[in-house]
Amino acid sequence: MTRDPQVRITSKLPQSGITIFSAMSALAQEHQALNLSQGFPDFEADPKLISLVQEYMQQGHNQYAPSPGILPLREIVSEGREKQHGALYNPDTEVTITAGATQAIAAILTASIREGDEVILFTPAYDCYAPYVELNGGIPVYVKLSFPDYRVDWQQVKKVLNHRTRMIIVNTPHNPSATVFTQQDLDYLEEITKGSNILILSDEVYEHIVFDDMQHVSVSERPELFKRSFVVGSFGKTLHVTGWKTGYCLAPEALTTEVRKIHQYMVFSVNTPVQYALAEYLREVSATGISPMYQQKRDIFRQALQNSRFNILPSQGSYFQLLDYSAVSNLGDVEFARELTIEHGIASIPLSVFYNEHTDHKVLRFCFAKKEETLREAGSILAKL
Ligand SMILES: Cc1ncc(COP(=O)(O)O)c(C=O)c1O
Repeated sequence: MTRDPQVRITSKLPQSGITIFSAMSALAQEHQALNLSQGFPDFEADPKLISLVQEYMQQGHNQYAPSPGILPLREIVSEGREKQHGALYNPDTEVTITAGATQAIAAILTASIREGDEVILFTPAYDCYAPYVELNGGIPVYVKLSFPDYRVDWQQVKKVLNHRTRMIIVNTPHNPSATVFTQQDLDYLEEITKGSNILILSDEVYEHIVFDDMQHVSVSERPELFKRSFVVGSFGKTLHVTGWKTGYCLAPEALTTEVRKIHQYMVFSVNTPVQYALAEYLREVSATGISPMYQQKRDIFRQALQNSRFNILPSQGSYFQLLDYSAVSNLGDVEFARELTIEHGIASIPLSVFYNEHTDHKVLRFCFAKKEETLREAGSILAKL
């Protein structure tokens, strides 16, 4: 059959192609490279969690869950927040289970952003924020984190604030820089939003992965920030099951009501047996105990690079390690990441892709949520360059 010319639509995201994460993972597969690019573990989750999903399927929990999520899971999330941050979120009206943090972000931005609203984003930034701001008619206002320590310059934020500012998106622990917010960051955030109607989206998917003496601090802890904030989390990141795409959104009732209206038309509800399994599992196993395991992985990777020509930047939280390769190569970061994958068998993510202006500081991001042997092998190859 001959085909007629394809019917086309005008792209709503003309600048977007496939994401760098898909592209680098595909390149890693093509060249059988160690894949330290995309942020997912190469080890299995607890078999107990996996058998719980099977059990709940066999018990017949295979139909739609309630749209906001099953109550036992919302209760667990609420209790965890209270224990860790002293914040009270009503599981009935202020906790929503979503299809990963990504869908929570999409629902929050769709509920909150209108034509002409400005949204402050810190670059380097995780890639799904700006497209959802733009799809809803909003205008991303980019503020660069300082280099090389990747901190927010709050004076700079003050300068871009105006009556059109609708939201500030923060992310701690931070992807890709692996920095974490301090109480002082929360002080500044409080100071600049007090008395305004500015909303905050706080992406905390790596909330349980913090190292050394750092603590995860959250907008949930401060009444002034709590009342204007949506907090986003991800069971995928916490329990090593990124492919299950389950996450949550916490927000005061008035904000949650609007997010749930969008959520119900986006997906209605989220995978039922997985929700039951997560609820039962998290009753017995604390989500808060994973930092030492990841810290060990971070240290194995860093140790292997100790005598290399790479400059190993600090990693305070998340499962990422940044390496400055300026003493190794003059290539641009996208080119160097491709060369590393094709010639040396290690896939990473060039940091310029997290900047709207593709700022290139000759830094690559490596994900160390990998088996120890993967990390040692990757480290020893990099150390020889
Ligand atoms: C900062 C950040 N936010 C959100 C997400 C998406 O999380 P999920 O897989 O639960 O949708 C990721 C995943 O890499 C992330 O790094």
